[in-house]
Amino acid sequence: MSESRRERRARQLQEFSNFDQDAPDPVPGLPPDPVSLSCQGPGPAIVEPAVDDVDLAGWCATETESIRSLLNTHGGILFRGFRPPGSELFQRFFTAVCPDSMDYQDRSSPRSVVGDRLYTSTDHPADQTIVMHSELSYSASWPALLAFYSDKAADAGGETPIADTRVVLQNLSAPTRERFMRLGVRYRRELRTGVGLSWQEVLGTQSRDEAELTCRELGMRYEWIEDGLRVEWTRPAVRQHHITGEQVWFNHAAFFHVDSVEPGLADALEAAEMSPFTTAFGDGSPITGEVATEIRSAYERALVVRPWVTGDILLLDNMLMAHGRLPYQGARRLLVMMGGPVSS
Ligand SMILES: [Fe+2]
Repeated sequence: MSESRRERRARQLQEFSNFDQDAPDPVPGLPPDPVSLSCQGPGPAIVEPAVDDVDLAGWCATETESIRSLLNTHGGILFRGFRPPGSELFQRFFTAVCPDSMDYQDRSSPRSVVGDRLYTSTDHPADQTIVMHSELSYSASWPALLAFYSDKAADAGGETPIADTRVVLQNLSAPTRERFMRLGVRYRRELRTGVGLSWQEVLGTQSRDEAELTCRELGMRYEWIEDGLRVEWTRPAVRQHHITGEQVWFNHAAFFHVDSVEPGLADALEAAEMSPFTTAFGDGSPITGEVATEIRSAYERALVVRPWVTGDILLLDNMLMAHGRLPYQGARRLLVMMGGPVSS
């Protein structure tokens, strides 16, 4: 009995789950698949067009099970070489993969809106590294899926490093892992005009009453301070994936740790009691510099870094794959969409 396309896809996915280096051989007698799948060790699976004029959004709409299976194993999928590249293709792609796209609320990064729920990835200065994190992991709800579109790759650098959060969790020492699992992470943000994001930007309102209501809905304690708002809340450090059931490292403990700010600036902000964000264990005990270093090392040992090619789309399962950004030179434009909200 000949193998159907669906059976062939299932076989390919099974083989890819072992991180095979080479794409499986084609099956004689079947029309060519419109796309080819491959992978290069840990990191995203790679999907490329195998014939001319592939409708990427159409393919994704009919291959939702394949996409989910690839994400479960690899945490991410890189779509490369599809035409015509552009933000319109990206929006149609993401809508096909994830019909319930999200606005970016309870934000931690400056972004520009460039379309309907379409944002620049972040407007941080080009010479800065963005610390590894899982999008909105400090919040009460977060996107299940996150996709980046490389509208213009940088002349040099600007990669989006990724790290499998299952591996990051296992890379931590047993005492550190156990303590975070038991206590969670306490976050504190000082939302002041001129230092980081203002409370109006973070909470998406100009009204103090609405800001207070949002804080209560998000489970945050809040206090109005000179020039702004202080908020504090606690969340788990490790969560169970909503589909695979696996435990993942899912928090902003390192991202919001004071060590992530430039050393000189961190000292000045701390001295003035104006640090825009800090993290502690859930019982309020400090996350020492040593522990913050251990977390960064756990990410680094799981890191996969690949250069962007203009036109690339990188789809991530936000709970399985953390991401960051390396400094870059030249013009770079990366767009992002997120969706499929998951709530705690
Ligand atoms: Fe991010």
